[in-house]
Formats: sequence, structure tokens, C-alpha cells
Amino acid sequence: MKVLGIFGSPRRGGNTEVLLEEVLKGAEREGAKTDRIYLTDYAITPCKECHGCDQTGQCVILDDMEKIYPKLLESDIIFLASPIFFYGVTAWAKALIDRSQALWAKKYLLKDPSLGKEGRKRKGFFISVGATKGQKVFEGAILTAKYFFDTFNAEYAGELLFRGVDGKGDILKHPEALQQAFEVGRKLVKEMIHNPS
Ligand SMILES: Cc1cc2nc3c(=O)[nH]c(=O)nc-3n(C[C@H](O)[C@H](O)[C@H](O)COP(=O)(O)O)c2cc1C
Repeated sequence: MKVLGIFGSPRRGGNTEVLLEEVLKGAEREGAKTDRIYLTDYAITPCKECHGCDQTGQCVILDDMEKIYPKLLESDIIFLASPIFFYGVTAWAKALIDRSQALWAKKYLLKDPSLGKEGRKRKGFFISVGATKGQKVFEGAILTAKYFFDTFNAEYAGELLFRGVDGKGDILKHPEALQQAFEVGRKLVKEMIHNPS
């Protein structure tokens, strides 16, 4: 069982990083092999909307995203963690998400069977925090995450969201949140072991 964690915050040691780390520890507890992508370590050019991928399913931009496509496709469960920046995911996460347009083209334009109904099934889960307590603070980011996961056949498995969390490491003041994160990691891996598709 391969589990990938994508860390979308530019703040190392921040709230989403703490949460995702707990999730991955929970997954490891159930025997999963985990891989971590800290997006600040990767140079990802935003999508140029050149439609170069329409005919090939391959992005024409040659940069660190080339290292990430195979990781997405090799993984059984993908966790995307991003704080809310202006009611969406961070620009770091959005650059990666927009570049998944190449996978969207492969799936929906080229009808590649590996991303079709018979292809490998994956699960995607979104983790986020926001400083405010607004009702709609996560709405945009959840939709973005759902459509991102869909490009590589990752069924949306849910989200872990915390409002009113702002300062670096403030999430540590909520031990129940860390426990919840750990359990999410365990639960998803266990479910996938017992219901392989
Ligand atoms: C550029 C920027 C934009 C932000 N926009 C929002 C926002 O729209 N809504 C909100 O609730 N919090 C917003 N925040 C606060 C962050 O979501 C919050 O500080 C979060 O805890 C950061 O998580 P991290 O430690 O994982 O980076 C913003 C922060 C920054 C730096």
C-alpha cells in the first residue's frame, strides 16, 4: 500500500504540515509505505494553457512536475494538505493541481484506459486549516481538491478541516485534532486493505 502526502504550505512546521505528518504516521502504523512531497522543494511552473497535452496526455513543460506525475500514479492513497489562502489552496498547491491538466487530457480527451473505469482505483483526501471561522471558508478549496483527485482516478474520501487556526503550530494546542488526523491515516489504509478494488 503506497501513500503519498503532498505538503502545500510554504510554512515549514506549520499547521497543515503537523496534521499531514500525523495522518502519515497513522498510515505507517497500518503498514503503509509513505512518501512525502514538500512543494517548496519543487520548482513547478504554472500551466501555460498551451493545450500541448491535448494530443499526448504529456505536459510540454519539463520541470519538477515530471517527478510528481509518476508519484501520483503509483500511489494508492493521496493526501493533499494546504492551508486556505484567499479562500483557495496555496499557489504552491494550485500550480501542481493546474499541471494535472495533462492527466485530465489523458483521461477525458484521450480516454486512456489506465485512468478509465477499469483502471487502478485510488483514494484522495484533503486536509486544510484556515484562520477565520467563516462557514464557507473551505468550499472553494474542497471543490478544487475533488477535481484534482478525479484527474488520476482518486475517489474523494473526505476531508479534515480546522477553522480558527492561524499562528505557526497553533494546531498543537488542539491535541484532539492530532489524534483525529492519526486516525484518518489508519482508517483509510485499513479500509483499502479490506476493500481492495
Ligand atoms: C496569503 C495568505 C492568505 C490567507 N487567506 C486566508 C483566508 O482567506 N481565510 C482564512 O481563514 N485564513 C487565511 N489565511 C491564514 C492561514 O490559512 C492560516 O494562517 C493557516 O493556519 C496557515 O497554515 P500553515 O501553518 O499550514 O501554513 C491566509 C494566510 C496567508 C499567508
